[in-house]
Amino acid sequence: PHAFYLSRHGQSEYNVLGKIGGDSGLSPLGDAYAKALARFCRDEVTKGEKGERPARLWTSTLRRTRETARYISHHSITIDYDQDDVDHAQEWVQLRPVAWSNLDELFAGVCDGMTYEEIEKHYPDEFRRRQNDKLAYRYPRGESYLDMIHRLDQMVFEMDRHREPLLIVAHQGILRLLYAYLMDMPREEAPYVSIPLNTVIKLEPKVYGCDEKRFELLR
Ligand code: F6P
Repeated sequence: PHAFYLSRHGQSEYNVLGKIGGDSGLSPLGDAYAKALARFCRDEVTKGEKGERPARLWTSTLRRTRETARYISHHSITIDYDQDDVDHAQEWVQLRPVAWSNLDELFAGVCDGMTYEEIEKHYPDEFRRRQNDKLAYRYPRGESYLDMIHRLDQMVFEMDRHREPLLIVAHQGILRLLYAYLMDMPREEAPYVSIPLNTVIKLEPKVYGCDEKRFELLR
């Protein structure tokens, strides 16, 4: 089976301000990460034994992930096997980004755009409830990690459907769930998995779980 590469978007304007959610663009540091990620794609994701290999690239629909993928070059790959299999041949497109709303970040409802301090101040009960059950807690008019699991169900099928390596540029919450799924972890642990910025997590599937390697692209 092929490798999965998981990356958060580069640092966003909201990350700098400590605000959750929103749809801000990248900070200058985030833009530097986007450039480093494009180099990483060339040197690792699309590097095959004999030159370039095809790969797939997914982002969420939010600005910060699309901007993080914007320097990654893409082009169609010439069909070099099974000439009759036209349907499959058309899928051999290299790193053309596909944006999925299923990969958008946990929607925090009335708390969208607030800092954790502001949430604690304005909605102390909500803040405590979330600490007590982070997996099931649903923000008022927003989502829970369990809600995100539902919208990811469809994606995990798509993820395993092709044989090319897949780079997913998404968000902290959603990547925790994908990571837990691929690593065969109990979902109760998922909301606490560390998914740092500026880092690509490479996961290579084994019978159970995956071999893992982390690449820190900015220091
Ligand atoms: O702070 C970045 C962020 O992606 C927020 O948009 C999101 O609400 C949060 O992380 C999810 O992390 P946690 O579940 O730990 O609050």
